[in-house]
Amino acid sequence: MKKPEPSLPSVEDLTPEAARAEHVRLAAEIAGHDIAYHQQDAPVISDAEYDALRRRFEAIEGAFPELAGTLETSKRIGAAPSEKFAKVQHVVPMLSLGNIFDIGEVEEFVARVRRFLGLGPDAPLAFTAEPKIDGLSCALRYVKGEFVQAATRGDGFEGEDVTINVRTIKEIPHRLKGAVPVVLEVRGEIYMKRDEFAALNERQAAEGEKVFANPRNAAAGSLRQLDSTITAKRPLHFFAYTWGEVSALPADTQKGMIEAFAEYGLPTNPLTVLCRNAEELAAHFRKIGESRASLPYDIDGVVYKVNDLALQGRLGFVSRSPRWATAHKFPAEQAMTVLRDIEIQVGRTGALTPVAKLEPVNVGGVVVSNATLHNEDEIIRKDIRIGDTVIVQRAGDVIPQVVSVVEGKRPEGSKKYEFPRVCPACGSAAVREIDEKGDADAVRRCTGGLICPAQAVERLKHFASRNAMDIEGLGDKQIEFFYEKGLVRTPADIFTLQARDEEPGNLQRLRNYEGYGETSVRNLFASIQSRREMALNRFIFALGIRRIGETNARRLARHFGSFEALRYTARAASQGSEEARAEIDNIDGVGDIVAQSVIEFFGEAHNESVLDELLKYVTPQAMEAVKQDSPVAGKTVVFTGALERMTRDEAKAMAERLGAKVSGSVSKKTDLVVAGPGAGSKLANAEKFGVEVISEDEWFVRVGG
Ligand code: IVH
Repeated sequence: MKKPEPSLPSVEDLTPEAARAEHVRLAAEIAGHDIAYHQQDAPVISDAEYDALRRRFEAIEGAFPELAGTLETSKRIGAAPSEKFAKVQHVVPMLSLGNIFDIGEVEEFVARVRRFLGLGPDAPLAFTAEPKIDGLSCALRYVKGEFVQAATRGDGFEGEDVTINVRTIKEIPHRLKGAVPVVLEVRGEIYMKRDEFAALNERQAAEGEKVFANPRNAAAGSLRQLDSTITAKRPLHFFAYTWGEVSALPADTQKGMIEAFAEYGLPTNPLTVLCRNAEELAAHFRKIGESRASLPYDIDGVVYKVNDLALQGRLGFVSRSPRWATAHKFPAEQAMTVLRDIEIQVGRTGALTPVAKLEPVNVGGVVVSNATLHNEDEIIRKDIRIGDTVIVQRAGDVIPQVVSVVEGKRPEGSKKYEFPRVCPACGSAAVREIDEKGDADAVRRCTGGLICPAQAVERLKHFASRNAMDIEGLGDKQIEFFYEKGLVRTPADIFTLQARDEEPGNLQRLRNYEGYGETSVRNLFASIQSRREMALNRFIFALGIRRIGETNARRLARHFGSFEALRYTARAASQGSEEARAEIDNIDGVGDIVAQSVIEFFGEAHNESVLDELLKYVTPQAMEAVKQDSPVAGKTVVFTGALERMTRDEAKAMAERLGAKVSGSVSKKTDLVVAGPGAGSKLANAEKFGVEVISEDEWFVRVGG
């Protein structure tokens, strides 16, 4: 387990003044982390580090009782709800759980409960043990079986209203089955599965959007969206495990409640078991620990709860957590090793990323020899030096990271790490761009552009990758190999590879290289051939233009309809045509900075020749361009209620094709609302603002479908 900081004196050794000062400092630090974690979904430290801060804080309060409870943080759970959402008061507060970390503490927990209840040694006492899901808690309110409201935990007393977002989660029923209490507030965890998280991050990265640190942040970020259509596209799941206000409890045990939830049609976790004593709890903890890596979602421990609800009632709460439950946390998977070197990797757009080359070490069953160091500032902040002994951490599927330096083990004479100012691949200057606000970008970038071989290789990898040209058999390793051999240096080279390979007299046939045989070479050539016709949006995306992810590529494709049109306009803009610049700027969703990237790309002479070459072999398929003259062109349209002739996605795509802008909410600026049955507040708003409302059928008449 990670100690707060190796250099901190033990709590018992603190003078009252030092304790008071540290108490205040820790409270402020914890409060800051609470905001980063709960409101911004962007923690800056790991859970283990956060827990260590809290434990130190609590230890100080334990040793210096006069400080206990004097600062707000000691009672707070999470952070106050964000201003972005409407507030929901929790009728029953949403509290947190106490933690235990050692297997020995299980016995203590059971003994504490028995003592509190005055149970004799032979009196039976059952507990449930269930995985602690690493997501975010959410309260779902059902009235007469109908879903009416969802709220996040917020600070435990007041949460955020996320009803419309939760409605988009398929797994959460809008109507419960069977005989359900009139008022039932089910609570549980909203989470994202690991593979879905990875896929989402891949999409986000490709589109130049924010990538999430872990599935928990991805789930939180996805749920706390102001535009519920974004939430709808995110793969969110739910497990029900507790409750708030309930008009009549359907069972008198924890297990019975969970079973009742399952009967109502709510998802519940299948790994919940009933245990009779500390040994059985500990055994289940080990069992879940062993299956942890193979579960499709992240868990960070096991929760033990007294099964009998009457006993739960007697046990009650102590400050911020129930006496009848505790969370047995898995130790963070950390290990100590030596940092041999810091390698700087150069990405497709020139970003320099520091990677720790480590003395291989086993971290929770996986041998780790590389770990991320994030960026230049992170290295400075943690003062990480080559030769240092460092703590590495592996959490779930996330890339291993260097958490901290063990300063006591620093070799003598070590020097502060100097982040390179030039690109290690091409020697060009590497700079941190300054944004409009005057802030330096966290990322240092190589300015070598087209002359940088590292960028060239990464661009080729991107070009051939799955969401781009999708050339099977041409993965990262193969690209590196072909590049190194001088066989592929530009995208066009991929398409001439076969002809060059089959040229009479070629003594270096591909099939003679190690790792290649007749069949694999044939398959590779076939998959290259099959990509000579390519959807326009994918082709644009494949070019690897900075800031042009899949979404922007689609926007450009839809707007211009053909590659020639895009190229012509962007080139004109780069030569100073204001009209051309305005056309790109005005594409819905394409901002100034994105437009600039496009214009720069097409204005670059070298790119021109690369494209000329490439277009000899690849034909981007023209798309139906956005109609400028449709009856809804330039209008802002909102779809609401149930649509019967098309899905929401279809409706959106159709409207966009017709030049309309689709919005998720109705305001004064809305031009048209298309309302299906069951439309609610949006319809009401339309009436309030005097916005024209038509039915789905009328929509088809209007657009001539
Ligand atoms: S029971 C009164 N059960 O852990 C507390 N919580 O540290 C009721 N969590 O806020 C919570 N899995 O977000 C409970 N099976 C589980 C859980 C679980 C995850 C989360 C939840 C809670 C936090 C407490």
